[in-house]
Amino acid sequence: MGTPTKKNSNSADLKYVFKVANDLKKIIKNYKIVVMKSTVPVTTGDKIEKILSKLKNKNLVDVVSNPEFLREGEAIRDFIFPDRVIIGTDSKKANNKLKSLYLPIIKKTSRYFSTSRRSAELIKYASNAFLATKITFINELANLSEKTGVDIKDISSGMGSDQRIGERFLRAGPAYGGSCFPKDTRALINIGAKFKTDLSIVKSVVTSNSKRKILLTKKVETILNGNLNGKKVSFLGVTFKPNTDDMREASSIPMINYLNKKKCKVKYFDPSGEKKEFKKLKNVKYCKNISSTCLKADLVIIHTEWNEFKFLNFKNLVKKDNFKIYDMRNIYSPTKMKKLKIQYFGIGR
Ligand SMILES: NC(=O)c1ccc[n+]([C@@H]2O[C@H](COP(=O)([O-])OP(=O)(O)OC[C@H]3O[C@@H](n4cnc5c(N)ncnc54)[C@H](O)[C@@H]3O)[C@@H](O)[C@H]2O)c1
Repeated sequence: MGTPTKKNSNSADLKYVFKVANDLKKIIKNYKIVVMKSTVPVTTGDKIEKILSKLKNKNLVDVVSNPEFLREGEAIRDFIFPDRVIIGTDSKKANNKLKSLYLPIIKKTSRYFSTSRRSAELIKYASNAFLATKITFINELANLSEKTGVDIKDISSGMGSDQRIGERFLRAGPAYGGSCFPKDTRALINIGAKFKTDLSIVKSVVTSNSKRKILLTKKVETILNGNLNGKKVSFLGVTFKPNTDDMREASSIPMINYLNKKKCKVKYFDPSGEKKEFKKLKNVKYCKNISSTCLKADLVIIHTEWNEFKFLNFKNLVKKDNFKIYDMRNIYSPTKMKKLKIQYFGIGR
């Protein structure tokens, strides 16, 4: 079940989870394992067990935490080749059943990690908050690189080849978005507050990430010499990451809204189709392909790194002099762009 952020609060809304727990209370007649896959605050399993306490007392139920680590767009691969399977329970019976269920997939027991239910719940938040921290760290370093004439890609490779750090999630880009990182970092801060623990690093990550949306929008304004009125801006990709149609907390939303307000003529293309988020915006138009999006643009923004955008001949697409490119995913080589006499801007380079 979904565990979105509660309205006017940072905590996870557990109404769907508790609704299902209450439904289960009425229908469980013989031994069942209730497996919680949603991302839920630590101690939620205890609360579900309380709802099911009559069944628990009769040994008719075990409530287990088995957090989901699948990535959107990679679900099947992640399911078949998981880095780890976390099972949180103190019931031997439930643990053995789940182990036999997972063993054909994971093959090696080393990838199967059993722990307490509360630990399993916290592992999920800790993992997502850490990944969000890694992204935010490299994004802030990209800001410094831009001012010091350094290429952030070199920093990522140089740092990432240290095995203790690792290369993944060290690619600078727009603010992170999606259905998990924003809501899970906010919820973790809230859990910390509930247990009187200041999670200052996670708090900084959330603040830095929201500032980043404004920072990159301001950069667009600077690239267009501070004058947005009537400028033609084309977005390649608007989803928060490739291979998904998910627009939840995509940084393209505040960016395009701002440009629309400033009377830019925005065109966008995304391989996952038109977005309801932009339908009502007067100055924003969805195009059916890359070429009609880029034609006669003053600025082409590569917002999402779909494969479709990796080998483009911009001169042939834009068909106009003096256009600019803002490559928010650092796909293209600045040196090659210079040779082609295209005004190119990347992130942290
Ligand atoms: N989307 C991801 O990539 C991902 C990855 C890891 C973990 N998670 C976690 O998994 C959880 C769900 O995320 P999602 O993206 O699948 O959300 P979602 O909103 O897309 O899906 C939620 C599902 O729960 C169902 N549901 C809601 N109330 C119900 C009820 N009363 N009875 C039966 N079904 C009900 C909905 O119909 C829907 O199918 C979240 O806690 C999220 O943090 C998601």
